Parts: sequence; structure tokens; C-alpha cells
Amino acid sequence: MKIAVAGTGYVGLSVALLLAQHNSVHALDIIPEKVEMLNNGKSPIVDKEITAFLDAKQSGDKALDFTATLDSHEAYTDADFAVVATPTNYDSQKNYFDTSSVEAAIGAIREVNPDAWIVIKSTIPVGYTEHLRARLSDQRILFSPEFLREGHALYDNLHPSRIVLGAPNDDSRAVEAAHTFVELLANGADPAERGRRNEDGSEGIPRLVVGTTEAEAIKLFANTYLALRVAYFNELDTYAESRGLSTREIVNGVCLDPRIRSDYNNPSFGYGGYCLPKDTKQLLANYSEVPQNLISAIVDANRTRKDFIAAEIEDRIQGVENPVVGVYRLTMKSGSDNFRQSAIQGVMKRIKARGITVLVYEPTLKDAEFFGSEVTHDLEDFKRRSSVIVANRWNADLDGAEEKIYTRDLFKRD
Ligand SMILES: NC(=O)c1ccc[n+]([C@@H]2O[C@H](COP(=O)([O-])OP(=O)(O)OC[C@H]3O[C@@H](n4cnc5c(N)ncnc54)[C@H](O)[C@@H]3O)[C@@H](O)[C@H]2O)c1
Repeated sequence: MKIAVAGTGYVGLSVALLLAQHNSVHALDIIPEKVEMLNNGKSPIVDKEITAFLDAKQSGDKALDFTATLDSHEAYTDADFAVVATPTNYDSQKNYFDTSSVEAAIGAIREVNPDAWIVIKSTIPVGYTEHLRARLSDQRILFSPEFLREGHALYDNLHPSRIVLGAPNDDSRAVEAAHTFVELLANGADPAERGRRNEDGSEGIPRLVVGTTEAEAIKLFANTYLALRVAYFNELDTYAESRGLSTREIVNGVCLDPRIRSDYNNPSFGYGGYCLPKDTKQLLANYSEVPQNLISAIVDANRTRKDFIAAEIEDRIQGVENPVVGVYRLTMKSGSDNFRQSAIQGVMKRIKARGITVLVYEPTLKDAEFFGSEVTHDLEDFKRRSSVIVANRWNADLDGAEEKIYTRDLFKRD
């Protein structure tokens, strides 16, 4: 099949490379540097599997039919499927996702190709696909939620937890196209996944073709659950810290219950990253006129947590003359190069608003300043000048500076 992908970020690039194993894939981006890097076999993002795929393509060890382009004619002409994987940032003025890049990509696809099945992979508001199909009088638009984790983007597509496609139940051609796309994704997965046993006893990758609105809801409810889980253990930690109790002992005791288990239970400065903060807010917006308590609480809990962390940091510099708060890494997770919406930035803002000096150590940042705060690339200088070092996640870099460190990373993992 001929497949086009709009957007070569975490989602677009991993889906494009997955499908390029068995299909002809053209991936379009609007950033020339990204396109050039990709055509030279270099990944614009840090991702082990993406780098390995691009290296193997360059050396001829892997036959991947993959081309990056800036040209919509080259990308979209004759495509059977066109995947849209462009950003949907949360617009805090409108209290809703900004879907303009999705609509720009769909417009560009349709100018060239009226027949392609469009599969939106960007995360969108609940009800958006149905609304768009009606507004554009375009029956060839489907939605597929993406569940990858940054840093493991292609890995998670090679080993998917499930494949979900949304198509209107009453449109048999759309349902058929959805099944075809599910199989394209499944065929790109690691062959070992075909024989896997799932918890419910089923075999292979679970595949779901559901209504488009249900598929959109699956994505936002899944991410909001993950945010709830992080917020829950963070609030447990806030309680334990405030009462002088051992969070570690409580979490261990709670999570030995097989119904609760130990995933996602390591306290942090808040849930963050590109998706969880915006997806929870979008789900809350979708609840307008529907009764709820929990979704607002999940959104609010993250603010309360960051206020608490900022206050704890301030306590640690009481009485210090000209204190300097050292921020160790702007990223959410160890091993990541991405700090979009990281929780530590929310903590930084609160500290800076009180006039306290912040010094940042972030090796992936080339600039000398980050939002008016000095960035140092010298770890020893950073440790020496910081009155307190705040780290969302522990790293061996911090060895030797233990007495200065403030972290809630109790289990030394993400
Ligand atoms: N990053 C994640 O972990 C993740 C996981 C699941 C879902 N999502 C969702 O997928 C979408 C994309 O996320 P991402 O992290 O891959 O974003 P990203 O910012 O890494 O990549 C998006 C790419 O789209 C390009 N782009 C913007 N407008 C375009 C257009 N009109 N045509 C073609 N390309 C265009 C950008 O230049 C960029 O390279 C978002 O809706 C996000 O919520 C992201």
C-alpha cells in the first residue's frame, strides 16, 4: 500500500517507520531541518529503535521504503491511507485543544488526494472526528488513538498494548477501511507479538474497531487514569511528608495488594510531559454539563502538588544568604531529551515568582539561559553553587551531593 504521514514527531515518525517495513511510506513535515535529517538517516528525536531502524536502512541491513518530504504532492498523491500526527496543544484561552494543525494537514491532503482514507493519530477532543466528518462532508476520516511513550515510541508500536481504530458503526466502508488499517499496524509489529498470551487469555495483539467518539474517549480516559494514578501516589507522599511518615513503607504496603500493584507508584513533582496535563484538561472540558468530581480533582491535584513541592524547597533554603535553587534536568524522566510540560518547570515558575535565583543543569540545552535563569553545563560548578539541588528523578550524576538534594524519587525509577 502507499501510505502518507503528516508530521514526523514521536507519533508520526514511529508509525511511518513501522509501516515502511511492508508499505511505501512518505512522511511530510513542515520543518526542513527534520526532513533533511531523516533523509540522511538521522533521527530528530532520541529513541533507540527509531535510530536503529534509520541506521539499518542506511547500511542496507533493513529494507524500509521510507522517504521524508516537504512536498505535499510527493507525499499525498495516490496514497491509500494518510495518517495525521500533528500537534494538538491545549489552548488555555479557549480551554480546548488547538486542532488547527490537524485541519491544516487534512486540508493539504484533500487538495491533492480526495480519495485517501485519513487516519487521525493526533489526540483530539471527544466527538471531534464525527463533528469534522459532518463539517467537511468528508466520510473518509477515521481516528486511531496512539498509546506510545516518549523515548520508546517505535518500541511501543512494535509491541503494542492494543490497536484501536474508530470508524462510524453505520458506515460499512469506513469500518472495512478501519479493519484494513488495523491489520497494517499489526503486520508491522514484532512477529513475536502474534503468539503472545494476554491477561484475558486471548492470543496476539488485541484489536478493537469501535465508534470514532468511543475511540477518542478511550485515549483521553486512559491518559486521565494514568494521571490519576500519579496524582494519587503524589498526594499520598504529600501526606506522609507533612506528617513525618515514611512514604516508602506506606507505598510498599499498599502496592503489595495484587489489585493495586506497583506500576506508576513512584512519587514525583507532579504528572507532566506533553500529554497527561493537556489530555486531562481536555477531558475535563468534554465533561461540561456532565456531572463529575474526579476529573476536576485530577487536574487540581497537580497544581496543589507543585505548590507543596515549591514550599518544601523554600523551607530548605530558609536562613541561607542569597540562596540558589539548582534544577537538575528539565526533563520528566531519566533518559529523556524532551521537557515539554515537565513538572519541574511548574515548580521552577513558583520558586522564581518568589524572587529566588534558579540555576539550571540541562545537558541537552545549548543555550546559556532558560526563561531568564542561567543554564550551566558544568556539573561540578552546578553542585557547588546550588544551595539545594532539586531533581524530579535521581541520577548517578548526583552522587556526592546527597546532603543538598531534594527529590521525591524514592524508588529510583520512572
Ligand atoms: N508524544 C507522545 O507521547 C504522544 C503519545 C500519544 C499521542 N500523542 C499525540 O500525537 C500528536 C503528535 O504528538 P507528537 O508528540 O508526535 O508531536 P511532535 O511535536 O513531536 O511532532 C509533530 C510534528 O508535526 C509537524 N507538523 C505541524 N504541523 C504540520 C502540518 N500541517 N503538516 C505536517 N506536519 C506538521 C511538526 O513540525 C512536528 O514535527 C499530538 O496530538 C499528541 O497529543 C503524542
